[in-house]
Amino acid sequence: MAATNPVDPACVPRHIAIIMDGNGRWAEERGLPRREGHRAGADSVRACVEACGDLGVEFLTLYAFSSENWKRPKTEVDALMRLLEAFLKDKTKEMQQQNVRLQAIGRLDLLPERCQKQLHRSIEQTAENTGLTLVLALSYGSREEIVDGVKSVVRAVREGHIDEAMITPDLFGKHLYTRYYPDPDLLIRTSGEMRISNFLLWQISYAEMYITRTLWPDFRQDDLKAAVADYARRNRRFGGL
Ligand code: IPE
Ligand code: IPE
Ligand code: MG
Repeated sequence: MAATNPVDPACVPRHIAIIMDGNGRWAEERGLPRREGHRAGADSVRACVEACGDLGVEFLTLYAFSSENWKRPKTEVDALMRLLEAFLKDKTKEMQQQNVRLQAIGRLDLLPERCQKQLHRSIEQTAENTGLTLVLALSYGSREEIVDGVKSVVRAVREGHIDEAMITPDLFGKHLYTRYYPDPDLLIRTSGEMRISNFLLWQISYAEMYITRTLWPDFRQDDLKAAVADYARRNRRFGGL
């Protein structure tokens, strides 16, 4: 893809969220096992982290494994978990060098023990970094997150920390896994599927959407920059005029 014009820094999204889809199809097209698509997809993660750093994006949230993905065959789930662990082990040093701060959202307690340990190690080792915040959505489902948020609000009311009249969209947002991050400005989905698949339902209310047919393992720096350039031309109205 042709290099895109540099984007006016004032028009760069603060927060990009990506549904990284199409790894399996990428592998199948090449007669390879699906896990090879996931492996190639890990290189796209690296490329996008770098591109976000270049552009000055502050937050990048990547949908890496959904609550529903547990339904996949055990062999594929195991391959994904091994890949996640290896990716974290391998890339933490690089994240340090790039000043990237790693975070994660989702039901992390459901991940295999070894993955959890490596994840927490990587999060800890990058905690002081001040550049891009990379948020991995792992065993993440938006409906589960919202239900957890409702429970947390109910608890706060029951314990007398807040009363019902204080519950607003802003307050509710503070009870979600994403409470430390601004809402995404730009939502990208690769592989052409026109759906959200239980990702950040609450947070993307006013995100700009960019759907490309490019499969995730083929989505690299120039593709991310093209998405940002497209975003920069949008007129966000938030319901106003
Ligand atoms: C995205 O690629 C990665 C995960 C969901 C973990 P897929 O594995 O969904 O690839 P396709 O959609 O089958 O091509
Ligand atoms: C969404 O992709 C989840 C991730 C990218 C991690 P899926 O491939 O699981 O979504 P569906 O099944 O096509 O909706
Ligand atoms: Mg898919």
